[in-house]
Amino acid sequence: MPQFDQTKTFDSIDRREHFSNLSVWLQLLTPLWSQRPFVELPVAWEKDYPAVARVLRNLTQDQIDAYESQPSDFTDMPEPFGQWASQALGYSSWPELETNRPAIDGLKRPRRVPGRKWEQVKHFTAAVIAHHPRKRSIWLDWCAGKGHLGRTLSELTASPVRCIESDLRLCQQGGELADRAGLEVEFVNADVLETDLTDEFNVGGGVVALHACGQLHMQLIVQAVRHSIDFLAVAPCCYHRIAGQHYRPMSQAAQKLSLEFGKHHLRLVAFDEVVATQGRKNIRRREQAWRLGLDLMLREASGDDRYRSLGPVPRAWLTGSFESFCHKLAERELLSMPTGFDAAKAERDGWQRLVTVRALGLVRGLFRRPLESWLLLDRMLFLNESGYRVAGGTFCAPEVTPRNLMILASR
Ligand SMILES: C[S@@+](CC[C@H](N)C(=O)[O-])C[C@H]1O[C@@H](n2cnc3c(N)ncnc32)[C@H](O)[C@@H]1O
Repeated sequence: MPQFDQTKTFDSIDRREHFSNLSVWLQLLTPLWSQRPFVELPVAWEKDYPAVARVLRNLTQDQIDAYESQPSDFTDMPEPFGQWASQALGYSSWPELETNRPAIDGLKRPRRVPGRKWEQVKHFTAAVIAHHPRKRSIWLDWCAGKGHLGRTLSELTASPVRCIESDLRLCQQGGELADRAGLEVEFVNADVLETDLTDEFNVGGGVVALHACGQLHMQLIVQAVRHSIDFLAVAPCCYHRIAGQHYRPMSQAAQKLSLEFGKHHLRLVAFDEVVATQGRKNIRRREQAWRLGLDLMLREASGDDRYRSLGPVPRAWLTGSFESFCHKLAERELLSMPTGFDAAKAERDGWQRLVTVRALGLVRGLFRRPLESWLLLDRMLFLNESGYRVAGGTFCAPEVTPRNLMILASR
C-alpha cells in the first residue's frame, strides 16, 4: 500500500508519483468508495471489516453529524479506519495558491452579487492576477453566468472580456450589469458543447472558468490546448456532469490505469455539505429518508430486493406528507404501490435506515476529497502532457465554496 509522506507538501513531491500512488490506493480500496450503502445494505466490505461496521452501526445521530463534517476527527474507531482516514487526509492536501490580495482588498461587493459568490470571484481573480504574466489581456469567461468574474477581471486588469454563456436571460442580465458598470464586457450567447468557438479562441489572451460543470470545463481544457491558449484558470465543479455514463480520463497517465469511475462514483465528490444551511440539510435528510422508506416498501412488495433509482422530485413534494410523496412518485414512475400500506411504519423504517446508511457512508466519505484530487490531477497532467506549466491548489477556504481547487496553466 503506498504511504503518503505527511511531512511533504504536494508542491515538494513529484506530481506523477503522487498521482500514481493515489491511483494504486484508490484501486486497492475500491469496495470502500464504490459501493453505496443507499443502494446495498449490508455493504459488501462489512464482512471484511466487521469491527469497523459494528462501531459505525452503533453511532448516534449527533455523532454521525459531527463525523460527516470532519471524518478525520473520528479517532475512536477500530483499525484500519484510522489508517484509511490518515491516508485520505494525505491525498486530500493541496497548497494554497499564491494570490494577489492587495488587488482585491479594496473591492466593494457590487449590488446583486450574492455574498459567497462575491468571495469566490474575488479570490479566484486574485489568483489569476498573481499568476498571469501580463496584466492587460483579452479575457474569455467560460460559462460565465451573469459574468461576475468577467466584470471583476475587466475592472482589475483594465481589459476587455468576452463572456460565453448558453442561457440567454443570464446574458441579457449580465450585459446590463456590465453596461451599468461602464465595463468593456460583451456576452456571446452560445452552447460551448455545440458551437465552434474558434474565433473566440483566436482573439488570444487568457481564459477563465469559475465552476463550469464537468463536461463544460473538460471541453474548455481540450479546446484551450487545441487553440494553444497562453493562459488558463479553471476551478472545476460537478465532476459527474459528463457525457455518457463512464468517466473518460483526459491524461495519458490516467488512460493507462485500470481504474474506472461511473457517473455515480463521481457524484461522491459533490456530497459535502460544508456550506449548506441547516434548512437545506433538513430537506435533504427528509428526501433521503422518504426515498429509503419507499424503496424498502417497494422491495418488500415486489419481492425484488434491488434499489430503484427514481429521478429528482420537485421540492414541493417534500413539504407535504410521506404518503402523498409516495403516491406522486409511484404515479410518475408507473410503480404499483402495495395496497393498504402502512405509511407511518414505512416512514419510520426510512428514517431508521437513513441513520445506518449515513453511518456506513462515513467510510465512503473519506474518499471524497482524494477522488476530487485524482480528477484534478488528471486535468493537470493532461495540460502538462500538452506542454503547459501547471499549478494546482486552493484559491479560497472551503467555507467560501467546497469546490475550492483551481488549476492555473500557462505556456
Ligand atoms: C455553476 S454556473 C457558473 C457561472 C459563473 N461562472 C459563476 O461562477 O458565477 C455554470 C454556468 O454554465 C452555464 N452553462 C451550462 N451549460 C452550458 C453550455 N452548454 N454552454 C455554455 N454555458 C453553459 C449555465 O447556464 C451557468 O450559468
